[in-house]
Order: sequence, then structure tokens, then C-alpha cells
Amino acid sequence: MVNQYTYLAPLLAPTDADRMLAIAEGLRRFGTYADEGTSDGLGETLPQRFDVGFNYLSRGLDGEGCCDEASVALGRTNYFRETYVYGDEQQVDGIESFANHALIGESARALADASVLVPAIVYANILVPGQELAIHTDVPEFRGLNRKNAPQWLLVCMLHSKLFESWRVPIVTCVAWFGGNAGGAFTFYPEGAAGRRESIAADHNTAIVLDTDRVFHGVERVKSASLEETSSDRIADVGSGATLEFVGDGRWHMQTSGGDDCVYHWADLRYSISWKGYCFKSAISHRKWQHGEECLSIPQVLEIFEKDLLARGITDAGALSPNEYAQKIVDTYVGFPPGNRH
Ligand SMILES: [Fe+2]
Repeated sequence: MVNQYTYLAPLLAPTDADRMLAIAEGLRRFGTYADEGTSDGLGETLPQRFDVGFNYLSRGLDGEGCCDEASVALGRTNYFRETYVYGDEQQVDGIESFANHALIGESARALADASVLVPAIVYANILVPGQELAIHTDVPEFRGLNRKNAPQWLLVCMLHSKLFESWRVPIVTCVAWFGGNAGGAFTFYPEGAAGRRESIAADHNTAIVLDTDRVFHGVERVKSASLEETSSDRIADVGSGATLEFVGDGRWHMQTSGGDDCVYHWADLRYSISWKGYCFKSAISHRKWQHGEECLSIPQVLEIFEKDLLARGITDAGALSPNEYAQKIVDTYVGFPPGNRH
């Protein structure tokens, strides 16, 4: 890949950009991001993205460590999400100018050197003051295996191991920001995990296009200009079941499962819309994906990992418990950025 990312600013015509805010308002209610998929047998009692969580708890966002208790750290990263478009299903009105944006499609195609582009999903994330997103890579897909039938951490390890490239379904992501927040910069490692961490401000109507399955990235802490109680490092308890509801006049009401109430204005929130598209290098790879040809299965994946672990001199993997095995796979293949290079 020649270019690691493309920055688009401005992204949309001003009226279209304003409409992106109106879409969230029209949807009224955002729930928190809930994990999907199953992990039967493999690391089944571990969170789906324990690879990210454990790294965040031990290193924090910037590699200098995490001072939070585990429950506070969970609240910091439990953001709000709703889907706008899924495949051919458009779930909100007015998203066309973003979902079908020629520049996003062209940038994705160029970045992945793709001949066939298939738009996959458009979704919105909202982070409230005090929240941030741990450094991670997104959940990739392979022919036959995706987050619906495989543990998310396993898919992530498969990508980083580079052992499954011929089955990979390349995905390019565009993250666009609307509304603008004093913090909440997009932070990433464009030169790879061993390189420098760079940050791009979440300015209104700007976007980045990149391969978030490969490039480690996260979100710096969201700040509030108007709320004293959340302008420091404090954060409301955003546990599961929390809701964020538009109550008119540019204001959002958050209710946590613990019964806390908080009212935010748009300027307090970090609102992003993400687009993901499958980028096939050739008509052949597109056809294989479309028709489900040459698919991987979990036993096949474990066999390939087993051979590679043996070649690396790791001979005890077969004797490990499912959770220990999962941890071993993450430790062996996912090289998180060490941090402190900002
Ligand atoms: Fe991500």
C-alpha cells in the first residue's frame, strides 16, 4: 500500500454536513455499542475484544499507563452507536450524500488498489465528555469467517499473523467528523505499530480514509467546553444500558443504567460517521466472496495457527485452557504499539 491514509477536508457541501447532525437528531435515541458474535470454546469467558481491553488497562491510550479502575475504564470506552446503512438497507433518510460520496469511494479504491468496491455499512458513533477509545485495530473479515461466526479477537489475530492473506476480504474505512469537539482527536500509527503516533482533530466536516483493520488507531479523550464537572478527567458512569436521547434545541440527555442524568450540547459531544467498503483487488476475488468459494473454517484456522506456533518453538499450545490459548495467540501475533512516541 503506497498511501497509508487520505485526509478529506472539507468532505461535504455545508448543507449536507449540517444534515448529518440532523440525521442523529431525527434518530433521537442512541444505545451503547454492544458486542456481537460468539466465542464458544475459544476464550469463551473472555470479552470479545479482550486483546484491546487488557492492553488499554495496562498501558492506557498513550502508553503511559491507565490510572482508572476497570469499571471507570469500561465507562470511558463504552460509547454510543447506531447504524445508518447496512448493505442495501438504508435505515435513515438523508445519508445519501455521505454513503454514496464519490471521493470516499475513489479514495478507498485507490488506497486498496481495488478494482471492485462494494459498500458495506455506514454507522455513527457518539462519545460523551471523558470518553476515549482504546488503541485497536478493527475486526477484519475472511471468506467464511466474520464476527457473526468467529470470536472477534481471533479474527484480529488472523489478520496480524498474515497467515490468512489469501482468504482476507479487504475493507477500507472512512471516518468523518461532524459538529466538532474540543478534544476527541483521531489518533493513529500510520507508519505501523513501531512508528510515530499522529493525531487529527475531529473538526466539523472532515474525514480520513484508511485501512483500520491494519492501522492501530483510537480516539483521544473527549472534552467539554461547557460542562465543568466533565471538563476534567471525570466521567459519568456509562455502563451497559445507558441511553443518549435528543431532547431538542441542540441538547442531548444521557441516562445511565445507574440512574445518573446528564445533559449535553452538540459541542460537548464527539460525533463521527464511519463508512466501510469491501475493496476487492480483482473480479476473481470478488466472485469468490460473492459465491462463498474457498471459505475458511475455525478448525482450519486452528490447524494453521498450530503449525505456525510449532515453527516458532511454541509446543505447549495444545495443553492450554481455551482462555490461555486465546491469550497466547494474542500475545504471539498482535504487536500493539508500545506508545510514548507522540
Ligand atoms: Fe476502530
